[in-house]
Amino acid sequence: MESRLITAVKNLAAKRAVFRLSELLPRLDDSYLDLSQEEVLADIQPHLTSLRLKAVRSEDDYIFSPTGQSPVIAPGEPETGPQAAFFAGRRIPALIERSIEEYITRKASKNWDDPETLARLKKAIVAQKDDYWRPAYQRRLRYAKGYSVLGYLAYHFPVYFMQAEHLLAMLAREGLLKPSANILDVGTGPGVVPLAIADFYSRLDNRKATVYSLERSEEHIEAFLFLRKQCTTKGAKVSVKAPIAMDITSPDLAKVPGKIDLMIFSNVLNELPGDSPDAGAGIVAALAGRLAPDGTVLITEPADEENAMRMRSLTVALLGHGFTIYGPCAFLWGTRCEAPRCWSFTSARPILPTHIMEVMRQDPEGFRYVNTDIKYSYAILRKDGLTRQECRPPADAKFLRLSKISQHVGKRINVAAAKMSGELGNPRSHVIKLCDGTAKAPIYAVMPGYHRTDENELIVKAPYGSLLELRGVLVRFNKAHNAYNLLVSRNTIVTGLEDTEV
Ligand SMILES: C[S@@+](CC[C@H](N)C(=O)[O-])C[C@H]1O[C@@H](n2cnc3c(N)ncnc32)[C@H](O)[C@@H]1O
Repeated sequence: MESRLITAVKNLAAKRAVFRLSELLPRLDDSYLDLSQEEVLADIQPHLTSLRLKAVRSEDDYIFSPTGQSPVIAPGEPETGPQAAFFAGRRIPALIERSIEEYITRKASKNWDDPETLARLKKAIVAQKDDYWRPAYQRRLRYAKGYSVLGYLAYHFPVYFMQAEHLLAMLAREGLLKPSANILDVGTGPGVVPLAIADFYSRLDNRKATVYSLERSEEHIEAFLFLRKQCTTKGAKVSVKAPIAMDITSPDLAKVPGKIDLMIFSNVLNELPGDSPDAGAGIVAALAGRLAPDGTVLITEPADEENAMRMRSLTVALLGHGFTIYGPCAFLWGTRCEAPRCWSFTSARPILPTHIMEVMRQDPEGFRYVNTDIKYSYAILRKDGLTRQECRPPADAKFLRLSKISQHVGKRINVAAAKMSGELGNPRSHVIKLCDGTAKAPIYAVMPGYHRTDENELIVKAPYGSLLELRGVLVRFNKAHNAYNLLVSRNTIVTGLEDTEV
């Protein structure tokens, strides 16, 4: 008869394509309590072939994945050594910065720092920003004129490039970058993401990628081809292919390469016409027909309230197209998300201004041309059911599901939830978004600065996406925002949720 251990492995493997030994252990009965990880693994090992699984050591854990699946980068690997040095520098590579200056000079037929060129760049930047804040159906931005793309290169490119590098580091930590990957960047603009991939992989060992991209603007394609020539080398770890001209609202799927391991939509879905998340979801789903079965879709959008919330609704619409959400959301009670007015985003250290920004900031209104903050919303989706972390609050723990919060206003409760924002308040009054996957209205942890203690400051210090336990928070209804606040006081204890890596 099959042992209970092997049944537990089979059950977990049926739910998750890739899982860790540390996730299996809590599912085993008490007879395994005294065994080390290695002893449990030794019992599983003889069955791996028949289970069609392999186990690979990863730091102090083991990752199980189907045989035949490409191996993944061990979590934690990329942000040491050269990667760490790169992120600490907070600058886009000097070669890319110089190439952008050179491209502006060429297209303007005058030096990029000529007063006339600068004046036109500034005008293009302001026009782009004004357009961005119009409702989607009123936007005019088509990147059809040279200066709109030059403005993009001067103002948006550096931050979006660095943002892409942070997202790649996150994917690598999660084990979602295959050593040999086919990547498709949709709405690539001047090649921000492909160039970031080439740069990121240049600091990884034994990894390579082929990067394809789709773009409809000829001006962007021209800029991309120039930067590709200047900043990438043939035979390098990353082969950056020329962008494929395409309008993704009517995609020609025959032209889109198949077996894509990673499909990226970076700051493009908010530019699609129409307000309904279903339209965007339909386009993502159609293109995802070209995804490998164990492929990943990464969507990232600006962090402002409107775009971040639209992206989250679009993500939920994708659940109806056979996707599951891998992260950053956590579904602690195994329920389906409704994304109630979900304004969730993360941030990274600002970049240092580029040379062009330094020159433009000499203007009396110089602040308008300097863009250094990195704040973004993102979602990772899969079609094979893989999720970031499967964690259930311990069975004996008394945590309130956030869906039931309206019945507990004025009471002190315990909750288990993921930290779904950075600081939304300030040091005098911390505000942090929380979610356990069941919330029907926005939920915020609110902590007056003077209530901060060693026992509760994890709410501020934990990284975005961390799973937390909050014991002893007071529930308040915030009428102005139709939201609930969980008041964290000096008596509240905040810890990492058991069995997670907070
Ligand atoms: C804000 S830019 C983002 C560029 C790049 N992905 C980044 O993150 O910096 C949006 C890009 O999407 C492209 N785009 C918008 N709608 C598109 C469509 N229907 N088909 C193809 N590309 C589109 C635009 O031309 C532009 O290059």
